Formats: sequence, structure tokens, C-alpha cells
Amino acid sequence: MNITIFGTGYVGLTQAACLAEVGHTVCCVDIDERRIAQLRQGLSPIYEPGLEALLRGNLAAGRLTFTTSAADGVGFAKVIFIAVGTPPDEDGSADLRHVFTVADTIATHAAEAKVVINKSTSPVGTAQRLKAHLDEALTQRGHAFDMQVVSNPEFLKEGSAVEDCMRPERIIIGVDGAQDIDLFRELYKPFSRNHEKLIVMDSRSAELTKYAANSMLATKISFINEMANLAERLGADIEMVRKGIGSDSRIGYDFIYAGCGYGGSCFPKDIQALQRTAAEVGYHPQLLEAVQSVNRRQKHKVFENIHRHYDGDLSGKTFALWGLSFKPNTDDMREAPSRVLLEALWAAGARVRAFDPEAMPEARRLYGDHPDLRLVDSKEEALDDAHALVILTEWLNFRVADFGLIHQRLGDKVVFDGRNIFEPAHLAREGLAYYPIGRAAVG
Ligand code: UGA
Repeated sequence: MNITIFGTGYVGLTQAACLAEVGHTVCCVDIDERRIAQLRQGLSPIYEPGLEALLRGNLAAGRLTFTTSAADGVGFAKVIFIAVGTPPDEDGSADLRHVFTVADTIATHAAEAKVVINKSTSPVGTAQRLKAHLDEALTQRGHAFDMQVVSNPEFLKEGSAVEDCMRPERIIIGVDGAQDIDLFRELYKPFSRNHEKLIVMDSRSAELTKYAANSMLATKISFINEMANLAERLGADIEMVRKGIGSDSRIGYDFIYAGCGYGGSCFPKDIQALQRTAAEVGYHPQLLEAVQSVNRRQKHKVFENIHRHYDGDLSGKTFALWGLSFKPNTDDMREAPSRVLLEALWAAGARVRAFDPEAMPEARRLYGDHPDLRLVDSKEEALDDAHALVILTEWLNFRVADFGLIHQRLGDKVVFDGRNIFEPAHLAREGLAYYPIGRAAVG
């Protein structure tokens, strides 16, 4: 099947690469000429495991092409995906400017009926608004044909986007009225494997499903973080509590790790957008508000531990920081807990030596000129002349640590861990003080 995808962000690009990999022929359109030039050479603009290999293989096989020509893109396929950003507006609602610009582009260049599939995370009602918008634009141009608009939200996680796309747990198709869904069965057949993954519903429910899924996941995290804060005060261990509650299959082990708060481009933005949507229909979502406020507080948690350990005096201290990205396997620092910590440490007069396996270019872009930040080439180098070590991202490579070296290099022999990657008793044996989350500190 020929497919066109507008937008080469992590959703559009991953989707394009995976659709090409299973045999479809995909044309990607983006207005960013540099990005398209880079992609034509098989270079991925984002770090995403496995993505570049898929790009190269499918470019070489001729199943994947990149263009800045919207006319070519629209002409190429009957099935057109919209996968452009929906960043937060000033008031937190999703800014749909890019989505509607693509819709206008499609209406301008279409010479036949199209199926327009919206993958961008968009507020409830967007598919219906898009449909009305397209109908009007086509009428103005004197076209007699019709467009079908479908909501098909994306559930990829950064860092495992290719894997999630190739093996989805569900594929949500939001269609209104009596529509033929055979096209979607055909499109997604290779991903359904041994059983049908398509869940078909109306477009409003599909749009809300996306927000509800992210809100539920963020709620799990804020919930476990709230329990972690209680556990600390009550002398309990959140790791034990996690295992205890996770064993109940109604709760499950996934996504209940206490830590220094959730970040990324999705949870914070989507919860805010859903709050705006709720306000528009006169509903006050108290739980969503609490989820956000617990998370805001949790992002300060590691700094609070540091502040307490040093009795509020951090001037002249140097901190080794392991992990800048909001989670492992990505170079993304949007809403990352590291940003809150860096700014708090600097405000308190401390210096930082930071290392991240993938996010160094992004850190350089954001804070390259900061006088109190040294971006270094390895986790070991970060320890040089440092008083304490802080861990904010649970990269696999941080889990195996040379405690002898850490002990030797750190002036104050103390580790602050925002992701609970070590065992407190182990660090105590190594002669290191240790501050985890939701577990008793040692030393
Ligand atoms: C999230 C959702 O998981 C995806 O299903 C969704 O498609 C995506 O948003 C999106 O809307 O595009 P993502 O933001 O890539 O994916 O990352 P997650 O793996 O969900 O992690 C989000 C944050 O939660 C990270 O900062 C992570 O460290 C934190 N987290 C996660 C915890 O603190 N504890 C956990 O147990 C799990």
C-alpha cells in the first residue's frame, strides 16, 4: 500500500520506518529541509534504538522516500497520516496549528478522495473538526469528492519506539458513522500477528483513549511516589511495598517504580491539555491536578535530600551527575528531572560535572555556556574533583558501578540516587552514604 506521512518527528518517523519494513511504500513529508536532507542519507535526527537501521534498509530497498514537497506527498498516496507536533499553548491546551496546516495542504493538493489518519495527540473532537475543515476547503475548491478522517492515536514510548511500533499491544481506530475498516485491517495486518490488534470505536473515544492512557500511567507514577514519601517517613521500604502490591495482578509490576518524577514530552503536556479540555466542558479534574502537583514536588526530591545532607550549605560543592535524559535510551531532556536539579544546584552555589550516554549534545544546546556546568565524556570523568554523586536516569550502564573508584574520587563519599538503582546495604558496605527514594538512607 502507498502511504504518505506528514511529520518526521519521533512518531511520524518511527511509523514510517515500521510501515516500510513490513512492505508498504512510504513517502515522508516535512517542511524542515535540513532534516529531510539528513534523512535521505539514512541519518536519524533523533536517537532511537533500531531506527537508523530501519531507515537505511528501507531507503535502500526503495520503500521509503523523503520530500519537502507537499504536492508530491499528497499525490503519492490515498492514505495520508498526520503526525505533527501538538505542543502546549500558553494556557496548556494543545496547539493544533500544525495539524490544521497539514489538513489545508492536503485539501490544496488533493485531486481525489483521501483517507486522512490523525496520529498527532489531539483533543477530543479534533477528528470531527478536521473533517468539517476539509469538507469546507474542498467545497471552496469546487471538488465533489469526500475525505474520510480517522483518529489513530499513537502509544509509542521513547527509547523503545521501534519495538512498540512493530509489536503494538493495541491499535486504536476512531471512525465516525458506518465506515469501512477493511483498509485499516489491511494497513496494520502485519502488526497484528497472531491476533487482531485493532480496536475500533468512534473518533471522540479514540482521542480520549490516548489522554486517558497517559493520565493513568502518570497517575501510577505519582501514586507510587506519594507512597515512597510516606514510606520514608514511616520507616518502610518502597521497594518491598512495590513488590508487595505488584504481585496483585490487578495492580501489576509495571510502571510503579518510585523515582525523581516523570518527565518527557508526553505526560506533562497531555495531562495539562486534558485539564484544559475538562475546563472547557465545565469539569474540574481533581485527580489530574493532584498527579501533577505530586510530580512537581517529586522533581525537587533529590535536591531536598542533598540540601538536608549538607545542612543547606552547598556553596563550593561539586556534584557528579549521571543521567540527563528524562529516561534511558533517549537523548530527550524535555521536562527532565535533571533540569530541575541543575537549576536548583546552581541557584544554591554548587557546580556540576555531568555525563549522559546520549543526551550530551542536547545538554550542550541547553546549558553549554553555563559557568557552573562541565559536560564530560564518561561517568568516571564526572567523578573527578566531585564531592558527591547524583544519579537521575537509570541507564543500564550506570547500574554496574565501580564503588571502589566512586569511594576514592568523591570528596564527601555520598551518593544521591533518584532512581533506586543500587542496594542501600551494598553502598553501606562500600563506605558510602546513600540517599535513595522511599527507602531508608544509609551513612
Ligand atoms: C509515554 C507513554 O508511556 C507512551 O505509551 C505514550 O505513547 C507516550 O508517552 C506518548 O504519549 O507519546 P514516554 O514519555 O516516551 O511514553 O516515556 P515513559 O516510558 O512512559 O516514561 C515517562 C516518565 O515516567 C519517565 O520520566 C520515566 O522515568 C518515568 N517513570 C516511568 C517512572 O518514574 N516510574 C515508572 O515506573 C515508569
